[in-house]
Amino acid sequence: MASSGESAEAPPNIVVLTGSAHPVLGAEVARELGMPLGVCRTARFPDGEIQVEIDDLEVEGEDVAIVQPTPSGAAARGDALLELLFIADACHRGGAASIFAVVPYFGYARQDARKLSGVPLGARVVTRLLGTAPFERVVTVDPHSDVLGACLDAPMVSLSAVPLLVEALDGELAERERDLVVVAPDVGAVRLAREYARRLRAPVAVAYKVRTSGAEVSIERIAGDVRGRRPIIVDDMITTGGTMVAAAGAVQAEGSLSDVTVAATHAVLTPGAMDRLREAGLRRVVVTDTLASSASEYGATVVSVARLLAASIRHVAMRRRRAQLVLHP
Ligand code: R5P
Repeated sequence: MASSGESAEAPPNIVVLTGSAHPVLGAEVARELGMPLGVCRTARFPDGEIQVEIDDLEVEGEDVAIVQPTPSGAAARGDALLELLFIADACHRGGAASIFAVVPYFGYARQDARKLSGVPLGARVVTRLLGTAPFERVVTVDPHSDVLGACLDAPMVSLSAVPLLVEALDGELAERERDLVVVAPDVGAVRLAREYARRLRAPVAVAYKVRTSGAEVSIERIAGDVRGRRPIIVDDMITTGGTMVAAAGAVQAEGSLSDVTVAATHAVLTPGAMDRLREAGLRRVVVTDTLASSASEYGATVVSVARLLAASIRHVAMRRRRAQLVLHP
């Protein structure tokens, strides 16, 4: 990512702030950038309204990165978004030179098409809300839909956690080249599955999924040969776990080995999701920490995206500083 000349330059100071959605990741990003975590107090007023306070002196004239995924749970997700906007506004008014929104998991991205009459385009509404804040960049990881980037006014940096997840899978899967098959559990995951397959040097199979309700899915058929192979089912997120469980059942019915691995970037994990995977015999689960989750308590491997985020923030900040030097030497 960095050009060869970059390493010689002193890295810019970046003030990292975190809202209440994932303070652990915020602290890790700050550590990766070699900075202490900035002051950002989040609380609630007695009536439940969001209260945010930063240190103006800390952000004045600085590049600021606000780490805040938009997590699951209706109240939490709405609050996280609003909290992010409040922190950004405080930074703007405190004289920050530039503000990056670091939204490792971008909620509402699944509402990216108007498939039924009477429903909103949730992804567009949320990106327009973000557009009201003066973000220099919005940094995200494996967004569910390209619509986010198209609807956002600020440039979006879309990072991929696949290399990190593949590295973790490599560590977990002995003799990996022999008999793997990467399975996309629905058509939307095919692009992701191809990327895993290229890195794991494995073939791809695709499950044709039909969603019957928010939590229920069924698989109509599997395209590709899974017989005698060890499936790695990959998706951008695990929410209720229904998709992974259904895809695992379908590939096994087609003759795959029962030693199934599931990998996903975002551990959205509604209550009971990990139990659902476990009850279906899916014990090898690899996810990232784009969201605070209970995955590791269930024995899942959780890969950190902190270094990936920090590298991207540093890269953009350096480019910005360099451009400023050209304009104002
Ligand atoms: C949907 O298009 C997504 O990519 C995931 O397949 C979905 O969100 C997974 O949800 P669940 O775990 O509830 O089946």
